[in-house]
Amino acid sequence: MNIGIIGTGYVGLTTGACFASLGNRVICVDNNVQKINMLKKGHMPIYEPGLEELVKQNEKENRIEFTTRISEAVKKSDVIFICVNTPTKENGDADLSAVETVAESIAGHMNRYRLIVEKSTVPVETGIRVKQTIQANIRNNVAFDVASNPEFLREGSAIHDFLNPDRVVIGVESRRAEKILKELYKSFSAPIVVTDIRSAEIIKHASNSFLAAKISFINLISRICDKVGADINKVAEGIGLDKRIGSDFLRPGAGFGGFCFPKDLAAFIRIAEKLGVDMKMLRGVAQANEEQKEFFLKKIEDQLWNLKNKQVGVLGLSFKPDTDDIRYAPAIDIILRLESEGVKVKAYDPQAMLNARTVLNGTLYAKDPYDAAKGAEALIILTEWNEFKQLDFKRIKKLMKRPLILDGRNVYSLEKMKEYGFQYISIGRPAVA
Ligand code: UDX
Repeated sequence: MNIGIIGTGYVGLTTGACFASLGNRVICVDNNVQKINMLKKGHMPIYEPGLEELVKQNEKENRIEFTTRISEAVKKSDVIFICVNTPTKENGDADLSAVETVAESIAGHMNRYRLIVEKSTVPVETGIRVKQTIQANIRNNVAFDVASNPEFLREGSAIHDFLNPDRVVIGVESRRAEKILKELYKSFSAPIVVTDIRSAEIIKHASNSFLAAKISFINLISRICDKVGADINKVAEGIGLDKRIGSDFLRPGAGFGGFCFPKDLAAFIRIAEKLGVDMKMLRGVAQANEEQKEFFLKKIEDQLWNLKNKQVGVLGLSFKPDTDDIRYAPAIDIILRLESEGVKVKAYDPQAMLNARTVLNGTLYAKDPYDAAKGAEALIILTEWNEFKQLDFKRIKKLMKRPLILDGRNVYSLEKMKEYGFQYISIGRPAVA
């Protein structure tokens, strides 16, 4: 099939590269000239494992191309995916101006039937708005369909998630649209849920909210464990083995981040509010997430006593491993708070330091984890990169001013830390003194 992808962020670029790898011809559009120029040269604007290789391979086989001209994509494609950004406005609403502009533009260039699919996470009824916008701007009365096909990929494992989904959700209004989307996903073994557009939109919001709720739930329990000296990792294992609950997304930590959960949660709460439904539970999920960062900060403060001029090393800046994305990363909030209290932070992250420099100006950046630990009164773990799991702790201990590790991701075993002689404070587990 000929596929147009509008927006080359995480979702757009991964969708484009994966559909191309399945044998489709894909044309990706973005209005950011710099981004498109980078992509044309084979450089990725984001770090995502395997993406660059996949794009390059498909470019070589003439299955993927990049342009700033939406007209070109509309002309060449049968199916057009809208994958543009839907950031949060100050009042919590999703800003859908990019979706509207794209819909107008698509309508202006359509000369035969097209299927327009929303893949960005959007409030319920956006599909209907897109349809109305296209209808209002279309010329020559050409036929078209609008569909919703939400994407559930995670950053850091985007390609794998896209190609191996648990389910494919298709929200359609016509048999024609259903047939096209089913054809597009025919090589996938996952079940396909076919529904109306509104239900598909809600599935996406409800899924993200549910997952965020799982994390806030385990984080709240971690605070109880902390108070009574229980072990949250064991508690999570004990809960998760119940098949009705499941063990995924029960990892405690210093809060969740990223561009999806915090933003989508706020948007869903706001959508519900407008519909007259008070999502108290989801407001609690968001609040618990903010409190979780405070909970970890308090542990740091308790240990360091007077914060002014204390030097600490930080490992991890991205909102999770295997990405350079720092949007809504708990690490950034925590560092900003520590720095505002006079703490001197030396941070290391395998991928996210370049991005972090745009928001953390007073921070020093280390060349590796050992450099971050050198002279530090505490080593603070904020992202569980694999690289941090196998460090030379004897060396770290020698380099530090005080052998104190504060672990906001429960990366290390209590026994190991005891063996190495560290004072080790983690989340919801007994402290190693
Ligand atoms: C999420 C959804 O998983 C994905 O389906 C959706 O399409 C986009 O949003 P993503 O934001 O890439 O994906 O990352 P995810 O792996 O879900 O992690 C989100 C945040 O939750 C991270 O900050 C992570 O550290 C945190 N998290 C996740 C936990 O704290 N504990 C967990 O058990 C799982």
